[in-house]
Amino acid sequence: MRSSVLFVCLGNICRSPMAEGAFGYAAGQAGLDVEIDSAGTGSWHVGEPPDKRAQAIARANGVDISHLRGRQVTRDDFHRFTHIFAMDGNNLSDLRLIQPPAAGATLSLLLDLVDGDSARDVADPYYGGDEGFERTWREVSEAANALVARLKA
Ligand code: 4NP
Repeated sequence: MRSSVLFVCLGNICRSPMAEGAFGYAAGQAGLDVEIDSAGTGSWHVGEPPDKRAQAIARANGVDISHLRGRQVTRDDFHRFTHIFAMDGNNLSDLRLIQPPAAGATLSLLLDLVDGDSARDVADPYYGGDEGFERTWREVSEAANALVARLKA
């Protein structure tokens, strides 16, 4: 079955669109056929493009995420996607609250994909400076590469 991957954070304007972009790039490089999307547990930024700082760090790494638009995660996403990755523990518990019992998606923390980072959060860079976004990009890229390797295996 073709894999479909959804990345989820709080606002869907920083971490999860960066993860979507990093994974889309890595999957494209690897020739992996996969559906990719991102969403937020909150609704504040529905319809908005990613934060300018998120767009900038992605662009600096060769990835354009300017066309992405925020949306809120739904119960139906658990039927539509094979894998759902939460950026942090709060996102994970919010997702568990709406997860339908019989839905097929596997739900886990993104950094569970990275050896040694199991159960660690991708910290929210929204209220900090540019170095936070650089760190976020490193973390989501490392996880994206690990996910490509796993899905290719
Ligand atoms: P994200 O960051 O969850 O990585 O998209 C945030 C963006 C906006 C807000 C919170 C987190 N906000 O409260 O507006």
